[in-house]
Amino acid sequence: MDYPRGLAGVVVDQTKISSTAGAHLTYAGYPIEELSEASFEEVVFLLWNTRLPNEQELYDFRADLVSKMVLPAETIRLLLYIAKEPQHPMSILRTTTSLLGTTNDVEHDEPPKILAKMLTAIAAILRIRDNEPLIAVDPNLNVVENFLYMIKGKRPDRKLTKMFSSVMILQADHEFNASTFTARVVASTFADYYSCLTAAVSALKGPLHGGANERVFEMIEEIEKEQIDPKDFVELQLKKKRKIMGFGHRIYKNGDPRAFILEEIAAELAPETGNKQYLKIQQALAKYMLERFGLHPNVDYYTALIYHCLGLDKSVFTMIFATCRTAGWLAHIMEQRRENCLIRPNSEYVGPTNQHYLRKESEE
Ligand code: SDX
Repeated sequence: MDYPRGLAGVVVDQTKISSTAGAHLTYAGYPIEELSEASFEEVVFLLWNTRLPNEQELYDFRADLVSKMVLPAETIRLLLYIAKEPQHPMSILRTTTSLLGTTNDVEHDEPPKILAKMLTAIAAILRIRDNEPLIAVDPNLNVVENFLYMIKGKRPDRKLTKMFSSVMILQADHEFNASTFTARVVASTFADYYSCLTAAVSALKGPLHGGANERVFEMIEEIEKEQIDPKDFVELQLKKKRKIMGFGHRIYKNGDPRAFILEEIAAELAPETGNKQYLKIQQALAKYMLERFGLHPNVDYYTALIYHCLGLDKSVFTMIFATCRTAGWLAHIMEQRRENCLIRPNSEYVGPTNQHYLRKESEE
């Protein structure tokens, strides 16, 4: 019997959180093109409640999230110990996520507190790795302003906050992608939230999934440094049977709707931050990939340049992606828990049969 590779095209469950039907991305029915103008907190509320908050709800939700961004002293001590480990930042995030909840938290923490802690923990990991002092949450700033403030050590201007908020919203959810489905499988066993998130972080790390953005930037750095024609680079990689990271998608065959918006943000940010050359390379590469192979950029392609323009090191790009996607992961974990049904598919056995084990005399 033929089985679809990687469950391609197989509908395994229903969800009310997001949809890519018709290659259009919507969160609870709202087109992503419209939502990238909303606030991150509005979109998180939407993903978690399948409706937008009214004014009072948004005010209370934002205040609650910001208040929960303060990490307890024991968590800070843990981060000071873990963050300097000579490991990949996503391995550090996996460890952090699994330890973010003390025994009591693991049983009692709810999504707002978990998301808030993840944001602050990731900002803290970045600061510790850069030997920078940790920044305390500012109750007068919103969630995205605080996240950027705690990473950069200075309060972001309105334009940067708006841009980064759009990037976070665009990456917040994407129906049953590999890391989200991983989180749902773990949630279906009624494991705690932190265990579900640890599994999702592990899945996102892979280069075919969230790990692609780091490799995208390595690629454009190499093209720039070696002064290679992007076309020659592509042909060389393909000859070595290597994928061109940041292109192609399981669902989007005529372009990732997020990539179009992200290219606009990159096109605005790159010239302002002295990264025009990288933008030129990316646009030339994208043009060639489309003409030669009909392959479009995906969400990881331009986020790589945007993160670089924000002064982030490529080794932490996937960790930033995980920050944004934690909102979606938590929405799916809650939805799966409400389903109250273990995910356990069948398989067709095609291995050897009728084998018998005979003990050898020598072993008598
Ligand atoms: C994300 O699922 C999601 O929604 C994920 C995500 C999310 O928001 O959660 O959108 C985030 O993970 C984006 C993808 C990031 N990964 C990459 O950029 C890695 C490079 N991309 C490819 O590995 C590939 O596109 C996949 C794995 C992402 C999807 O592969 P599929 O499902 O086979 O579909 P496709 O149309 O993209 O590829 C069909 C064929 C490939 O066949 P295989 O080798 O996979 O059997 O087209 C060729 C290739 O022959 N191809 C490529 C290519 N992408 C497709 N060849 C070279 N380089 C590429 N980038």
